[in-house]
Amino acid sequence: MTIRGKIIKYRELPPSTCLMPVPAAMVTCRGADGKENIITISWIGIVCSEPPMLSISVRPGRFSRELLEQNGDFVVNLPSAGAMIQADRCGMVSGRDVDKFEEIGWTAIPAAKVNASILKECPLALECRTRQKIGLGSHDLFLAEILAVQVHEEMLDANGRLKIEAIEPLAYCPNCQGGGQYWSLKEVLGHYGVSREHHKRI
Ligand SMILES: Cc1cc2nc3c(=O)[nH]c(=O)nc-3n(C[C@H](O)[C@H](O)[C@H](O)COP(=O)(O)O)c2cc1C
Repeated sequence: MTIRGKIIKYRELPPSTCLMPVPAAMVTCRGADGKENIITISWIGIVCSEPPMLSISVRPGRFSRELLEQNGDFVVNLPSAGAMIQADRCGMVSGRDVDKFEEIGWTAIPAAKVNASILKECPLALECRTRQKIGLGSHDLFLAEILAVQVHEEMLDANGRLKIEAIEPLAYCPNCQGGGQYWSLKEVLGHYGVSREHHKRI
């Protein structure tokens, strides 16, 4: 196939989860006995605007899966790029073996609307309540409503909009062959609807 004079050759790869980028979110949850945990989750996405909903997918073997079964509330904490090590660590060890709050030295503060904690060190936190669970195969999908959003005040501009350059969200690019990579978002390219202006010129 030729696009603008350049020859494009395709190679078909085995089906895999190389949708990118995705967030590297730090999800906090709490079991029935009050035991708290943090799990790094990249199989996550917005699924509905009204009501605001997202999904997370968790492998049945995870300690967090056990806690989510007992209490479907959780918080999606979005770390900044500078917190890559802490985010990775919470995806390497299990809450069955270690207290991850102690492990990374971060502070849990009570969420406003759900029975789980917010990670103080993350600039943005989405408080979620599970509405539906669906077993998919390797992972169980938790469909959840976002009941509240908490943000560090300095991450908002004068109009109350999120300053993405201040939040600096940590992105993850899963690799088809196994080892994924963490990325930062480098620059803003445009705003929603930019094509309306651009379209007049092309
Ligand atoms: C970047 C990254 C993304 C991950 N995404 C997921 C995910 O979406 N679902 C999942 O079940 N595990 C995911 N993991 C693996 C878990 O975070 C990891 O197994 C963790 O140790 C489980 O902790 P727990 O046993 O305390 O629940 C991810 C790990 C990393 C490093």
